[in-house]
Formats: sequence, C-alpha cells, structure tokens
Amino acid sequence: MTPQKLTIVSDHWLFKCLKTLPADVLGFVEEKTEKHGDFFIVDMLLFKAFLTSKPSIFQHVLQSNHRNYIRDKAFKELGLALGNGLLVNDGESWKKQRKLAQPAFNKKRLEGMVDVMVDEGVKFCDSLEQYRNKDERVNLLSKMMEITSTIALKTLLGGALDGEHASVEENITFAQQHIISRIRKPAYKFLSYFNGKHKEFNQKIHEFDDLILNVINDRRNSADPPDSDLLSMLMSARDEDGEPMSDKQLRDEVITIFVAGHETSANSLAWTFYLLGQHPEIYKKLKEEVNQVVGDRLPVLGDLRALQYTRMVIEESMRIYPPAYLLSRECAEGDTIEGVTIPKGKPIILSIYALHRNKMLWENPLEFNPERFTPERVKERPKWHYLPFGAGPRMCIGNHFAMMEIQLLMALLVTRFDFVLDKNHEVIPEPLVTLRAKTGVMAWVK
Ligand code: HEM
Repeated sequence: MTPQKLTIVSDHWLFKCLKTLPADVLGFVEEKTEKHGDFFIVDMLLFKAFLTSKPSIFQHVLQSNHRNYIRDKAFKELGLALGNGLLVNDGESWKKQRKLAQPAFNKKRLEGMVDVMVDEGVKFCDSLEQYRNKDERVNLLSKMMEITSTIALKTLLGGALDGEHASVEENITFAQQHIISRIRKPAYKFLSYFNGKHKEFNQKIHEFDDLILNVINDRRNSADPPDSDLLSMLMSARDEDGEPMSDKQLRDEVITIFVAGHETSANSLAWTFYLLGQHPEIYKKLKEEVNQVVGDRLPVLGDLRALQYTRMVIEESMRIYPPAYLLSRECAEGDTIEGVTIPKGKPIILSIYALHRNKMLWENPLEFNPERFTPERVKERPKWHYLPFGAGPRMCIGNHFAMMEIQLLMALLVTRFDFVLDKNHEVIPEPLVTLRAKTGVMAWVK
C-alpha cells in the first residue's frame, strides 16, 4: 500500500490547537471531523495526536493489534488516584489482574446483585417522594450520581461504608476534577504543586485509602466475613500460583471499580431522561412496556429480557451521549494503519462520540430513534459502529452490571414517577472523565 498522508489540523500559527481543543473538546472533534474526515492529526504544539472516528481503525487498535497500543500519559495521571487498578494497569500485570477480577463480573455472579440494586432503588424512589408535585425542581444528574454511587459502594463493599457515602463521593469528585485539570491544562499542573491543590488531593486520596484498608483488615480479622459482594470475590481470587491480591492491589481495584462504575451509569440515566423528556411519544411507549412487564410489583431479573424497548432506549441514548466518549492509547512500537505511519510513542484518540455521530454510518445521527436498536437492526450492523463499552480484550468489565442496573432503575423510576423537564434550563454536554451534563438535567417530579 502506498503511504498515506493525513491532514495535520492546526488552528493558529503559534498555539496550533492548544487553545481551541481544550476550550470545546466535542465541538472541536465534530467540526474537524466534518472538515477533514474520520482520520487526521491534531497539532497540540507540544505533541501531535492521531484522532479517528473510523470503525476499521477502532478494530485495529482495540483488537487486531491491541498489544501495540498501550495506556498513554493521561492514564498515568489517572493512576495518581486509581493506582494500578484495571483501568490504568497494562501489559502482563493487567492481563493477570483482569483474569483474577473477571469471575466477579460474570453474569451469574451479577444476578446475585439484583436484590441490592432493587432495594437501594426503592429507597431512592422513596427519597424522591418529597419532591412530588412541588415547585422545586430536582437535578436528575446529581440524583442519579447519588443512587449509582450507593449501589456501587453496596455491591463492592456490602454495608461497610454506609455512613461514609457523602465524604467518599466528595473526595472522589475533587480528585477527578484535579486530575482532568492536570491533563488538560499544563499550567494548572505546575501551579498545583504551589497553591496547595496537589497536597489537598493527596490528603483526600489518603483518607480514601485508610477507609478501604480498614474494611479489608476488618474482613481479614472477621470469623464470618461477607461472601457475596465484589470485594469478597476479589479477596478470594487466586492466581495460577495460588497467590491472592495484595492489599494495595485490592485498594486499587476497589477505587477503580467505584470510579469507573458509578459516574458512567449515572450519566447514562440522566441523558436518557433528558432525551425522553424531549420525546414524549418514546417515553409513553417505554412506560407502557414497563407497566406491562412489571406492573405494580418490583422488577426482577427475569423482567430484563422482556424490557426490550427500555433497553433499546438506553442503547440509543448511549449512542448520542456516550458516557465514555473517547478512548486513548499510545503506539508502543510504531505501526502502519491503512497506509498511514504511526510513529512509536504517538498518542491516538478514538472518539466514540464522533463514531456514534458519524454520518457515513448513521442516518440522521442527531435524531433520537431507539428503533435503530431492534434486534434485527443490531444484527445487521457491524459491531464496530457502536462501542459505548469499548471493545477487544479491554472492553468494559462492568457492561452487564451497568445494563442491569440502568434497566432496573429505569423500570423502578417510571412505574412510580413522571419527570417533567425544565426546558428553560440549558443542557450542555461537558466532556470530563465521562460525558456529563454541565449544569445537570433539571426536572419536576410528578
Ligand atoms: C454506562 C456505563 C458504563 C460505560 C459507558 C462504561 C464504559 C467503559 C469503556 C468504554 C471502557 C474501556 C476503556 C478503554 O478501553 O480504555 C471501560 C472499562 C472499564 N469499566 Fe466500564 N463502563 C460503564 C460501567 C461500568 C461499571 C458499572 C463498572 C464496574 C462495576 C465498570 C468498570 C470498568 C473497568 C474496571 C474498566 C477497565 C477494564 C480493563 O481495562 O480491563 N464500568 N468502561
């Protein structure tokens, strides 16, 4: 194949894209993809990155040649909080950890968590009663964060941190904002060593470490430790030499699962209600399905398969607003993709957001249309067109957990309430670690 030259995108003779990209990450990707197609290079002044929304390149990087695409510098920053947990880990160490953790996420194991999800979901619905038919609006995004973080802590650690919920959430939110600022703004990173921000970050992370290490210790010293939550499964996992995970590794996996597993699901729920609020006919159809399948009782595992339209709605919502909106990798040894040379050490960004809105792949990509996800249409479509959970060996380990949780919560919420969107409240997507609604999704509870 003759070598291909890609367009190098640069917005300014001096700053290149250093200012334009961080100012509006999603707008930048949309505009440049429209102009330069689905594979190009972005000049960030200090480095150049490949950016793509082309399915065949996702397949190459995530599957066919995945060993050559490792975690990039952004993951090293994430590692400041997540340590060497699954999300950050790489190479042989990642492979070993993934093998140890995988059984905890098998469908059969997860089925045991339905009761926790439903119990906590019911308590959550009870807590929403205070807003019913009141003038006060609720922020659906913060509410969804509340319930998904409760479920994440409960399924991970049982009731061990019941009283600590608010402080855990606060510390993690601070840590995330700090890390994202360090990744996106080099000046912030430098200043953070002098203005106390990085010290505060370290303090908060240590507080979290102490909490988790205490839980692990209590379990080691208990005559009758719990055996059905994720931590107990991770603690009982053994590698090929019969060795368990160290306390440090357990801590890293716990914080990783907590972080990776609750904000993504909360965003998905909030975006879904946002889209449903704008499409009453779709909301009506979903509600009819839930009423027919679940009726006045509580949802159970067996309902999930029958809640097919609900699932289609969630999938379409994750197409338009993918909570994990990009994946990034670094090319380890150099490569050639479709005639394009990728030098060793170069970053490559796989934009799930642009993939899901790629006009070549989706008809009217901005239209919210759950019918795209009928089983027949899903079967016809190449899997590389739709990747909310990533793909290949590093595909999300919690995908079944997430779908189960979101479907159950949707079912519980729509049987009890209607949410009326405040359409005067502007909803702007904000690409932080996950894609969230910048000032939330505001609605009245009926
Ligand atoms: C709507 C919800 C979710 C979305 C959209 C999502 C998305 C993703 C994506 C795209 C990746 C791949 C990252 C990459 O290749 O660089 C990933 C990885 C991961 N996710 Fe999720 N996720 C969700 C929920 C969850 C849940 C509920 C858990 C745990 C309970 C979880 C735990 C993880 C972990 C540990 C990884 C790293 C896996 C590895 O590299 O081996 N996620 N997720």
